Amino acid sequence: MEKYGETLFVRDDREAHRLEVLCEVFDPLTTSALERLGVGPGSRCLEVGAGNGSIARWMAQRAVDGEVVATDIDASVLDGLRDDRVTALRHDVTRDGFPDGSFDVIHARLVLSHLPQRDEVLRRMRTWLAPGGVVLIESFCWFPIDSSPHPVYRQALRRWSDLVRQTLGTDSWWARSHPASFTRFGFRDVGANTVTHNLRGGTPLADFWRLTISMSHEQLVRRGYLSAAELNAAYRLLEDPDFWDLSPALVQAWGHR
Ligand SMILES: C[S@@+](CC[C@H](N)C(=O)[O-])C[C@H]1O[C@@H](n2cnc3c(N)ncnc32)[C@H](O)[C@@H]1O
Repeated sequence: MEKYGETLFVRDDREAHRLEVLCEVFDPLTTSALERLGVGPGSRCLEVGAGNGSIARWMAQRAVDGEVVATDIDASVLDGLRDDRVTALRHDVTRDGFPDGSFDVIHARLVLSHLPQRDEVLRRMRTWLAPGGVVLIESFCWFPIDSSPHPVYRQALRRWSDLVRQTLGTDSWWARSHPASFTRFGFRDVGANTVTHNLRGGTPLADFWRLTISMSHEQLVRRGYLSAAELNAAYRLLEDPDFWDLSPALVQAWGHR
């Protein structure tokens, strides 16, 4: 298996733009979940796989007098993450750890589903929490794609998901049952919430999925997952304001130590 960023999701201007759109669409959902779970004055927060750092910066504003650590496997993003309220660390969550009881809140969005070691990572995260602390994991789940009535859209997202599964070990279905892993690893007060957005062509959400697929255009064609014509038809659909469907759902799951 490759790692995220080696040949897929290579950190370039397109990936930076894709992550900006992702944050525009999904940050409101993430921050309201983190607020409900108690990020506030004094919280010691860990943002895993921080990407462009929007959630780490939000945590730093909320957790007055607290502490925010933002990690990523990709060293090139660390300068953008660091500020006087955020400590940025190069850290591979599959290998590197933190001392027992270091944090009150740990969050990872669209990180664990890409890691074949996802369950083991979740088990280790529990030990990094102080008693009463909470982990929030957010991941996409593909069930709205499986039932899509639009073959062009359904096939493009399915074949893209096949590419990332076979290249990185990404699991686009794990999220629907992963709250059970929280219980298995001894978390308490486990909960979950799934949000399925309506997707309309030409909106930021449709742009996010178009950018996501088009970043892998070359690999999808070269490795025989989709033809250029099939991909171009999917891009056109995602730009068409008359196209409506459902986006992959975002599953938010949490548990306390
Ligand atoms: C899809 S992006 C999501 C970024 C951010 N969490 C967000 O939702 O806006 C996945 C991020 O996880 C990082 N990542 C991938 N594998 C990682 C690992 N093993 N340890 C830490 N970060 C990792 C990537 O470099 C990338 O920044």
